[in-house]
Parts: sequence; structure tokens; C-alpha cells
Amino acid sequence: MSLLRRAAPKPAVATATRRFASFSPKELEAYRGKIAADLTGLSAAARASLDAKAKLLEWDTPAASYSAVTFPKPPAPGASKEVRAAYTECMVAEQAWLDEKLSAAKAHLTKLLASKVPNGPETARRMASFSDPECAQVQQYIAQLEHDSGLAHKFDIAKWKPPVTVAVTGAAGAIGYSLLFKIASGEMLGPDQPVVLSLLDLPTSMDKVQGVMMELADCAFPLLHGMGGFSDARAAFEGVDYACLVGATPRGPGMERKDLLLKNAEIFAAQGKALNAGAPGAKVVVVGNPANTNCLIGMMNAPDMPRANWTAMTRLDQTRAEGLLAAKAGVSVNAVDRVVIWGNHSATQFPDISHATVGGKWAKEAIPDEWYKSTFIPEVAQRGAAIIKARGASSAASAAQAAVFHVRDWALGSRGKWASMGVISNGSYGIGEDLVYSVPVVCYPGEYRRVGGISIDPYAAQMMEATRKELIAERDAIKHLLPK
Ligand code: NAD
Ligand code: LMR
Repeated sequence: MSLLRRAAPKPAVATATRRFASFSPKELEAYRGKIAADLTGLSAAARASLDAKAKLLEWDTPAASYSAVTFPKPPAPGASKEVRAAYTECMVAEQAWLDEKLSAAKAHLTKLLASKVPNGPETARRMASFSDPECAQVQQYIAQLEHDSGLAHKFDIAKWKPPVTVAVTGAAGAIGYSLLFKIASGEMLGPDQPVVLSLLDLPTSMDKVQGVMMELADCAFPLLHGMGGFSDARAAFEGVDYACLVGATPRGPGMERKDLLLKNAEIFAAQGKALNAGAPGAKVVVVGNPANTNCLIGMMNAPDMPRANWTAMTRLDQTRAEGLLAAKAGVSVNAVDRVVIWGNHSATQFPDISHATVGGKWAKEAIPDEWYKSTFIPEVAQRGAAIIKARGASSAASAAQAAVFHVRDWALGSRGKWASMGVISNGSYGIGEDLVYSVPVVCYPGEYRRVGGISIDPYAAQMMEATRKELIAERDAIKHLLPK
């Protein structure tokens, strides 16, 4: 997309130049490669045509101060925060400069018309603005600026945040096929958050990854500012802000999720190490099963990362529970609040409605206890298996949606709503330590806090203990993968 821009001074570059002092040599090189090159990459023809236009117009801006450039190239996966911030500055400067030129050009046209048709009626002026050669030139220039400014304003780029990089593993798989498009559309991180996607899968799946990237490109998502496909975790995770660890084998009919433990555990040990080395500040959601223990393995293999940055997804269990409860109560899901998923994303999980409300009433008062204990809890806990039986494949679109809800709340805040997440246990709720156990949290942009002061009745305590014991057994089974 070609835009007009003042060659000197270049506001974005001037700001970025001030930043050079804080750039590492590697970042500086990356910055120069990705952005500065764009600003100097003018074709001689483009420069000549703009100079000619500027000469013709001859108002406040001298000819030499015009140039034509393209939008700066989007940062590649792995670009530093500084490079991404400089990129956004360039975009914003582009928009501001176009606005300024547009109003100057319009003011110039008004002045020009006033001198050519001093006392004429409005229609005469309008006609002159197209028929008079001098005015027509200005009109043409205004049209060009309006077109370019329209492009810049179409997506309100001045309000965009610097891009963030999101890694998705298992990018060629079923969940990846839904999740990547949701992230690129802005559904996960918001309509003002450009994203760069880093797609990781096995070397044997690289053709599929290419195909997914072709489709992502074909969607022309305004917020998708770059993407890359990788078969090497270290390269894929370099500098990422978020990592959705989806890639792992799913279970088949008749299997429990923990049957995947030994098969998938090595993946998460390796990916924990790779994130620790390349993106120690990343926020991670583990989706691949068995999600809680895989998350523990990844976290323990990433000693430099805050443990709070590692989470396992139990949001799908939460949304399943909310849907089922709403259907039973005959209300919309929006009327259901504070359902909690405790423990493991497995058949032992405890979907708890003791604190839930349905249409403003306590769920426990609105729902028969018998249905809660003998239908609701097993149905939520076995929903994954029921879907595998019905579809012949495990849940994919609903899992992607749950990952979007999980990260969206974490990144942008849950506005006071409770969300369930597998997080590292810290002794609260009698869970003990060093287990990734699902608990209720409230999210604030960029962080989550466990919901405190919740009463736990004897039934809940017994259910919570059963799922805790299963997590301890899973942890024992992969002890060899946890660094001493
Ligand atoms: P899938 O088989 O369709 O895709 C998995 C992808 O992961 C494949 O493309 C595969 O090549 C890739 N992969 C395997 N090992 C990898 C590695 N080391 N690095 C990168 N990529 C790798 O499976 P799916 O339906 O997308 O499910 C993925 C995982 O998510 C499964 O373990 C499934 O059980 C789990 N899951 C979890 C939840 C949840 O609520 N937590 C919900 C649904 C599915
Ligand atoms: C689910 O809950 O749908 C996933 O964990 C897939 C599975 O194995 O049940």
C-alpha cells in the first residue's frame, strides 16, 4: 500500500533514533533491517511524480519534502518489543502526517477558489474546483491524500497497540485450525491489538502449516501483522509474549487423558526449556493433554520464568458446566455466574455450583441436589469422552474458543467475573503445593488473583481431595522429567 510521507524530518524515525541508545546491537540491526529500509526504499519514479505534484501545488511545503513510502514492514516473529513499538510509531506517524497534509490541502483549495471565483455562488466554485486546471490539480492531490488517509483510518491504526507475538503449537492440528483464525481476528487479544503469529508443529507437518498460513493470509486480517512457521521450538518461541501449547497427541475412544501422559510429557519438558531460553516473560496456556501435569512439567523445566505465567486450560470444563446449568434452569448462559472447576482437567474434576448463581438466585436453591450430583457433575467431567464418541475426534472448535476466553481474560481482565484456570498451587484451599490445580480466579489486565474467602463444605472437600490425589499420582508418574 503506497502512502505519501514527508521525507525529512521523518517523525517515526526521529523518535526511533532516540531509542537507538537503548537498543542492543542485535535489535538495532533488526530495526534497521525491518523499518529503516522501508523508509529509504523509494522508487525514482515515485519520487519524481511526487516532486512534480509538489511543484505544481507550490504551497507551504517545498518539493523536496515529499516522498512515497510503503507502510513499514510488519515485524517478524521474534522481533524485540522496541522494534514492535517503533513499527507502531511509524504507522501512527503516517496517519498523523496524512491528516495534517489533508487539512492543509483543503485549506489551500478553499483559498485558491476564493481567489478564482471571489464572489461566485457555491455551485460556481464547485465547478471551478474541477474545471480550472490549477484547482483540478489540488483536487486530484486531495483525492490521493483522502484515499491514503482512508487506508490509514480504515482500521483506526492510531489506536493500535504495538504488536505482540503469539506462539501456537500444534498449528497444523484440529484446534490450531480454529484457534489461529480467532487470534488473527482479534477475538483473543482485542480489536486494538495487532498480532504476529508463530506457528510450531512437527517437521512432518510443515506442508500443512504452510497451507494454514496461506489461508490466514487469504483472510487479510487487519490485525495480523506477520507470521512464521517453525518446526523448531527454540526458534518458534523466540521473544513471544503468549504461548498456546496445544500440540500433543489427543486421546482416542476408551482412553483416559492420563493415558497420554508418558507419550506427551517429553514435549512439554522440551518446550518449557525452549520458552525459558527464548521468552522468559511469556504467558503460557497449556491445552495439550493431560493439560495440568503437562503444564507442571513445562513450568518446572523453565526455572527463570515466573511460575504464575504457566497455566493449564480448564475453561472448556467451565463453559460446558455453564451451558449445562443454564439449560437445566431454562435461562441464558449470561444468567449463570460463579461456576467453579476445581482440580484436574480429567474425569476427577469437580465442577462446583456451591457458589454459583442462576438468574440472580443461588444455583443450589434453583437446582435439585440429586441432579447436580448424579447428572451434572459426571456429564461435565465426561463431556470430552462423549464428544470423542460422537465425533470420532476430540473437541476442537470448543477447545479453541475456551483458549480464547482463557487468554482474553488473563490479558484484558475478567471484569470481576470468576474464571477457572489450572495454576500452580500455593497451599490455599488445602491443596498443598507444586500441583497445577484448577481454581477460581479473577483476572486483571495481565494477571490473575485466586478468589479468596470461599467456604468449602464437606462434599466439596471430598471431591477436591479426589482430584488432588489424581494430580499427585500423575506428578509421581513423570517425576523423572522434573528437574531436582
Ligand atoms: P490434533 O492431533 O488434531 O493436532 C495435534 C497437532 O500437534 C498435530 O498437528 C501434531 O503434528 C502436533 N504436534 C505433535 N507433537 C508436537 C510437538 N512436539 N510440537 C509441536 N506440535 C506437535 O489434536 P488436537 O485436536 O488439535 O488436540 C491437541 C491436544 O489438545 C490434544 O492433546 C487434546 O487431547 C488436547 N485438548 C485439550 C483440551 C482441554 O480442554 N484442555 C480440549 C481439547 C483437546
Ligand atoms: C476435552 O475435554 O474435550 C479434551 O480434553 C479432549 C479429551 O480428550 O476429552
